[in-house]
Amino acid sequence: MKVVTIVGARPEFIMTAPLSRALRARHTELLIHTGQHYDDKMSAVFFEEFGIPQPDYNLHIGSGTHADQTGTMMMRLEPLLMGEQPDWVLVYGDTNSTLAGALCAAKLNIPVAHVEAGLRSFDRKMPEETNRVVVDHISTLLFAPTDIAVANLQREGITAGVRQVGDVRVDVFRDVAGRVNIPSLLTMTGLTEGEPFALATIHRPSNTDEPCRLRQIMDALSRVPFPVVLPVHPRLRKALDAAGLELPAQVHGIEPVGFTQMAALLNACRVVITDSGGLQKEAYLMRRPAITLRDTTEWVETVQSGWNRLSEPDASAFDAALDQALAPAPATHPAFYGEPGVSERICAELEAIPQAILERV
Ligand code: UD1
Repeated sequence: MKVVTIVGARPEFIMTAPLSRALRARHTELLIHTGQHYDDKMSAVFFEEFGIPQPDYNLHIGSGTHADQTGTMMMRLEPLLMGEQPDWVLVYGDTNSTLAGALCAAKLNIPVAHVEAGLRSFDRKMPEETNRVVVDHISTLLFAPTDIAVANLQREGITAGVRQVGDVRVDVFRDVAGRVNIPSLLTMTGLTEGEPFALATIHRPSNTDEPCRLRQIMDALSRVPFPVVLPVHPRLRKALDAAGLELPAQVHGIEPVGFTQMAALLNACRVVITDSGGLQKEAYLMRRPAITLRDTTEWVETVQSGWNRLSEPDASAFDAALDQALAPAPATHPAFYGEPGVSERICAELEAIPQAILERV
């Protein structure tokens, strides 16, 4: 079996790590990096720490508008996919790289497998929501992480090819367990051992690109009753500079970190404050309370179970969310995201589709 995996942004590098390894144990995998994320701290660090093979092709797309990014990716992907003629194109999640890869493959009648299928925030203003919906409707195999994801697909009439395999990040955590390094964590954050801190990330355009809201978010972070460690995403850095804003004094802004360091920060922190999809779920997996600075989430089970809450950044909403998050954790922690071995299950499902079916795609 020959699989072309298309990745381009930070969460995709993380998710491909265990699955690339499982695929390469028995099959041929070619990796295409679109170049959507290009800074070493947003890209190369993950290839190094997980030992992900170097990409076979890098499209060097970089920044741009959505149409520019997606269209240029498709134009550069098309000749590569035509030349390679893989059995599958594998895409992850909901980024513009996911959309471009899936659309390009579907139009060449190459079957698409979508990892993290069926996620919905029901907020069409999020570019990722459009990407999710489109990619799910043109995929042949849809690897849904949860019951809710399967139900979302069903509601849109998608039942064929849906496989509930669990969440591939469960495997990522399995693979980094034991690598957590407290001394390097303390050097990185400037905190002392045992000192409580919050871990925060902010990168969504809806939070960064409107100066008033960004100011409100910075005020919210300054209301946390202990230091806040904030790995600064390039979009946030640009937005702070453009708005002439500084990080509040108690916020320790650090460079974006690799996954092992992020897992160490998650493990040591008291609470997570974020607008990232991936991090709110990782907080759940690590049994840390979370506040999500958005009005919708695609990871609804983290909220329903009481481990995560959505909040506006204004003082009264944020203070209420903070009180809840710092109260004793819920007594139960259901395994919504499945058991380790997700990558191996995905690999087996890809192998199990008979060629006759693929030829009809
Ligand atoms: C993208 C994904 C989002 C994911 C996020 C993880 C889409 C639509 N969004 O958002 O789902 O949660 O990645 O980070 O695909 N930049 C750099 N250096 C880099 C990468 C980006 O400076 O290595 C800058 C870009 O120039 C741009 C900004 O950061 O100004 C944002 O990058 P972009 O690719 O537009 O998307 P993200 O916000 O990272």
